[in-house]
Amino acid sequence: MMPLIDRARLLADLDALAAISAPGAPGVTRVAFTPAFDEGRRWLRARFEQAGLRAAVDAGGNLIGRREGDSGLPPILIGSHSDTVFGGGRYDGALGVLAALAVARALRDQPLRHGLWVCDYLAEEATDYGVACVGSQALAGALTTDALALRGPDGRSVAEALRAVGGAPEHLNEARLAPGSFAAALELHIEQGPRLERADARLAAVSGIVGIRRVRLLLTGQPDHAGTTPMDARHDALAAAAAIVLRLEALARATPEAIATVGRIEARPNQGNVVPASVALAAEIRSLQPLLIAQIWGALLEGAQAECAARGVTLAVQALEDAPPALPAPWLFDLVSNVCRRLDPRAIALPSGAGHDTGYLAAIGPTAMIFVPSVGGRSHCPEEHTSPSDLVLGAQALLEAVLAVDAGGTTSTDETE
Ligand code: GLV
Ligand code: MN
Ligand code: MN
Repeated sequence: MMPLIDRARLLADLDALAAISAPGAPGVTRVAFTPAFDEGRRWLRARFEQAGLRAAVDAGGNLIGRREGDSGLPPILIGSHSDTVFGGGRYDGALGVLAALAVARALRDQPLRHGLWVCDYLAEEATDYGVACVGSQALAGALTTDALALRGPDGRSVAEALRAVGGAPEHLNEARLAPGSFAAALELHIEQGPRLERADARLAAVSGIVGIRRVRLLLTGQPDHAGTTPMDARHDALAAAAAIVLRLEALARATPEAIATVGRIEARPNQGNVVPASVALAAEIRSLQPLLIAQIWGALLEGAQAECAARGVTLAVQALEDAPPALPAPWLFDLVSNVCRRLDPRAIALPSGAGHDTGYLAAIGPTAMIFVPSVGGRSHCPEEHTSPSDLVLGAQALLEAVLAVDAGGTTSTDETE
């Protein structure tokens, strides 16, 4: 008989983790490398151990609960991330981690040929340090020394922040997973968009994950008196930055298969009566087609140089992250699609415009993702919501996919077809 997810326990776990949030901050705020994140991690670790998993933080800062396989076969990785954006919701990342834990509990007394790793990948969201997917990048060997040297607003480097959560930046090789070292990596996530809801479907198998280029543009002008400096004698870094933001918006609007955002702007000295002296912009470009990312980036750089030159502002570029677009392994996508269709005859396939840890893991082994609906398509905001029955259905799909992988990559749908 098919084991079942314990509905009440999964929903209670989601409530309990959502309650761990920075005091006074909106929605759920468990930003990586902050005290609320650490508290969430302590809670999770205890939960992993109660479920009979051997829990440890690896060199890349990933919290992993392990169970050995009976046949010594490579592990099946299931999980997502427990960090959130500032003012985020209850389910982005948390669902994937807690559903994975629910799967481990449901399978606790069931023999498995493969090992099972329940993973909380470190810092999936683009952090204040500028880099995202720190833990999964470490697993994939993609975390560069440049990324480790980036500094956050608290003055710490990524390496120092990583060490503070139990990682070992000088021994990242220990976290690195060789190709072939896992049988499959599966992630359940909320869709974070409106398409499942519009299709009146409850499950989707994810057909691809966008690539993301993240850069920081550093503009340096000159601070001057805002009342006495003539307009033609200014080196206004914020005016140049504003023009660059609009150029990026126009480039992305003109490219149907790509999107781009400047989500962060830091102006100095940030005073009403001083011509802005310097600006740091965090910009990102996303597409399933790497060529489009490269084209938009090339045009943006050219435009940014022109906007800066016109104002006597200097421009420096800091590369933050270059996540390539990722595709699921075809056999695993088929397996997950079959599981989804068996549980929801209206299940569909969808590409993901959000980045995920699975995107990095896809470079080193077979991966696939499952989506459940987001009410109104809302995410990265306190209003993020998914119905309890869809949360549990997604977890059940994850469980059935794990069993199908463990059985050798077939599903009962395959067998009866
Ligand atoms: C992660 O949530 C991202 O897509 O930025
Ligand atoms: Mn996420
Ligand atoms: Mn997110």
